[in-house]
Amino acid sequence: MLRWCGRCPQCSGWNTVVSAIEEDPPGGKPGGAGRLWRGGEPCVTERIASAEYASPIPLADVEAGQARPRSTGLGELDRVLSGGFVPGSVTLVGGEPGIGKSTLLLQALHAASTSGATSLLVSAEESAEQVRLRASRIGPLPRGLLVLAGNDAAAAAAAIAEERPSVAVVDSVQAVADPASPGTPGSVAQVRACADLLVRVAKSHGIPVVLVGHVTKDGALAGPRVLEHLVDTVLSVEGDRHHALRLVRALKHRFGPTGEIGLFQMGDAGLTEVADPYLYLLGDRQSGSPGSVIFPAIEGQRPLLVEVQALAALSSSSQPRRLTQGVDPARLALLVAVLERRASVDLRGMDVFTSTVGGIRLNEPAADLAVALALGSASKGVAVRDDTVAFGEVGLGGEVRQVPHAHRRLAEASRLGFRRALVPAAVDRAPAGISLVRVGTLAHAMSLARAGSLAG
Ligand code: TYD
Ligand code: MG
Repeated sequence: MLRWCGRCPQCSGWNTVVSAIEEDPPGGKPGGAGRLWRGGEPCVTERIASAEYASPIPLADVEAGQARPRSTGLGELDRVLSGGFVPGSVTLVGGEPGIGKSTLLLQALHAASTSGATSLLVSAEESAEQVRLRASRIGPLPRGLLVLAGNDAAAAAAAIAEERPSVAVVDSVQAVADPASPGTPGSVAQVRACADLLVRVAKSHGIPVVLVGHVTKDGALAGPRVLEHLVDTVLSVEGDRHHALRLVRALKHRFGPTGEIGLFQMGDAGLTEVADPYLYLLGDRQSGSPGSVIFPAIEGQRPLLVEVQALAALSSSSQPRRLTQGVDPARLALLVAVLERRASVDLRGMDVFTSTVGGIRLNEPAADLAVALALGSASKGVAVRDDTVAFGEVGLGGEVRQVPHAHRRLAEASRLGFRRALVPAAVDRAPAGISLVRVGTLAHAMSLARAGSLAG
C-alpha cells in the first residue's frame, strides 16, 4: 500500500486496514487480485463472501428440548430450580466463604445417591477425609456417593464422562486448574478454561454439573463474571454466617423463572428446610424501638416479612459513614438524599447504618419506604408501632410510588397479625384486619411519624 487508507473501500469499516508485508495467503496472492487484507487476514466483506451458507429454518419446526428437571431431593432447592437439575445443564452456586455451599451440595449429592444412583463430588478444596467428616454429620453414606479429591479440571471432566453420575459437583471452580491453560488457579483465564471443559462434558453427556464459586463480600462472583455467561443457572447462597437462616436464590435460570427463593437453616446436621422463617426474622424483635420497620417483601412467589433496622449517630469524622447490610448502598445514598431534601430529615454529620434481620438482601425498590421510614424514625428517635408494615418505591421527588403485589404483601402481613400498613396512595383495598395509611410522599410519612401518629 502506497498511502494511508482510513476506510476500507470494500467493507466500509474505519481503521480496519492495516499495513502488512504481503505474503501469499491461502488460496492466492493478495494485492494482485486487488484485495485488501487485514494483517494477513481477509477483510469482513471477503470473509462474508467466502463463508459457507447456513440455511435458517422456521422456529416452529424446531423440536422443543426434552430436558426435564430432575428433583434434587431437597424441596427448597427444587423450588428455586423450578423442579431440580436439568440433565446436561451447568449450575453455578455462589456465596461467601463459610455460608454453606459445600454443605448444601453435599446434601444434594447425598439425596441423589440414596435412591441407588451415583453422584460425584470433585473436591478441590478439601481432602476426601475432610469431606467424609462433613458428610458424617448428614447421615449414613450411600455407596453411590463418589468423591474425587484433586484440582485437575481435565481429570474431573474425564471422571464425569467415565462415571456418568446423575449429578456432579465441582467444589470449587476457582480451586481447579486446567493444565493445558496458562495462569494460576482462580485467574480469569483458568476459571474460564476449567468452566469450558466442564460445560462441554455436561452438554455432551447430558449430566447436570454444578460448579461452586466464591463471591466477595459485596456479593459479586470473585473475578470470573465470565462464568455467569457460560452457565445455564446461577444460584446464590445468602445469609448471615452468624445466624442459622440461609437463602438460596436463582439469579439466572434458563429453565424457569428467577427470583424464587429457598429457605434453609444451618444446624448440627447440615442444612434443613425451614418450616417457619419468622422464628428467625421476627423472633428477637424489640418492641417500641426507633429505627425498626417491617417490610413485606416478595421473593419470587413468596411473601416474606423482613425487619429493616436503621441507626443514625453523630459522627466523629468529617466524612460520615454510610454502612449497610442487606440494603443496596447506592439505594441507601439516594434515600438519605431524598430524606434530606424532600422530607426535612437532616442527616448531615451523622453516621448512618441500615441492616436487615437474618441477612436477607433487599432487591426490590418496594423496600424504599420501609428503609427511609426506619432512617427517619431512627434520626428523630420516634418509634413506628410494632404492628405496622410499610412498602412503596420512593422517587427522587420524594413521592411514594406504587409497586407490584400490594395485595399479596398485605395478606401476608395480615396473616402474621400486623394491623396497619403504610402504602402508596394507589393501593385500593386491604385484607380484613389491616388498616391502610396511604402516603403520597415521604414528607407525608415523616410528618405522621413526627406527630407521633405512627407510634400509637
Ligand atoms: P460450608 O458448607 O463449608 O461453607 P462454604 O462451602 O460456603 O464455604 O459451611 C461452613 C459452615 O457451616 C461451617 O462454619 C460449619 C457450618 N456447619 C454447620 O453448622 N453444621 C453442619 O452440619 C455443617 C456440615 C457445617
Ligand atoms: Mg466450601
